[in-house]
Amino acid sequence: MYKQRTYICFSLSLSDVVNLPYIKQRLFSTFANTTAVKYKMSQNIYDTSEFFAGYSQLERSQIGLDGVPEWLRLRTFLPPLQNARALDLGCGMGWYTRWMRTEGGAAFVRGVDLSENMLSRAREMTDKAGIQDGSVVFERWDLDDLEAQRRLLPEKDNGTYDVVFSALALHYLENLPELVRHIHRVLKPGGMFVFSAEHPILTAPSAPGFVEILNPKFNAESASSDAGEEGEKKTRNAWPVDGYFHEGLRVTNWLAPGVRKYHRTATTYVNILLRAGFELTAFDEWCPNEEELEGVLSWVKKFSNTWVRPDFLLMAGRKRVF
Ligand SMILES: C[S@@+](CC[C@H](N)C(=O)[O-])C[C@H]1O[C@@H](n2cnc3c(N)ncnc32)[C@H](O)[C@@H]1O
Repeated sequence: MYKQRTYICFSLSLSDVVNLPYIKQRLFSTFANTTAVKYKMSQNIYDTSEFFAGYSQLERSQIGLDGVPEWLRLRTFLPPLQNARALDLGCGMGWYTRWMRTEGGAAFVRGVDLSENMLSRAREMTDKAGIQDGSVVFERWDLDDLEAQRRLLPEKDNGTYDVVFSALALHYLENLPELVRHIHRVLKPGGMFVFSAEHPILTAPSAPGFVEILNPKFNAESASSDAGEEGEKKTRNAWPVDGYFHEGLRVTNWLAPGVRKYHRTATTYVNILLRAGFELTAFDEWCPNEEELEGVLSWVKKFSNTWVRPDFLLMAGRKRVF
């Protein structure tokens, strides 16, 4: 009898090799869909050794919030935290989770992340900080998994949180609108959702990176030899943006090849909040101001590209009190 066989051929690039777990997951989902089984697992790049080693070297990983220039602004978006019940989504090493408890005075803070590496650093540092009374807990959840979202924030928790916070994690999520609706549901009336994300100008390009362009202000005759001022330099940095309005998956190389992020326009971020029922209370395309630069953020001057394009989108929304 004639037997029909089906062969599946693959050609793998280097970034695919890094992403083998993801490819396995996609294959699984493809077949799972055929039998109507819903299965979704996110890329967990922070648990790959190359990415985690690179991320651990960043200032914000080494010294925490003093190495986070946008934190000065973001913290002004937070409500008073005294005795609050708070949630930190994509908490990473738990710098903000601990801050909300120790500096903010929150009664209970729940930090959630997908990465075992990040969570074990978070637990280690929290123990070292002497917070061992159960007021700060860390849990492993995949925030992009629809079923996990429902279990993480069940109906019984409706209206029980004062603050939901998230720093630089939401651009990794495809199912963000769904998550934000759950966040709205579990907040108390008047409760706040405060977050930062990579600015859409960063996430938009298919091949993000600076390029040198001719400086239109350059004047060869008046240029001095040391060319210190922007107007005197022959070239300047630019950040080309292609496909700003083409939202969705981007696969980029940052710290490791094949990092998956989801690009959304600034309008979409605002609309996700509004449609979930929040009123927008703060919106900022972060850049340090003069006062910060002359004072506490003088160390940021070395990152001169900060003025070429925004790095971060900072937003806050309040659940209406009816
Ligand atoms: C840039 S780090 C920020 C960590 C922390 N919020 C901070 O700012 O120090 C992004 C974090 O998002 C987490 N993350 C990414 N995708 C996730 C997902 N699907 N579910 C839960 N956490 C996720 C990563 O593991 C990582 O810890």
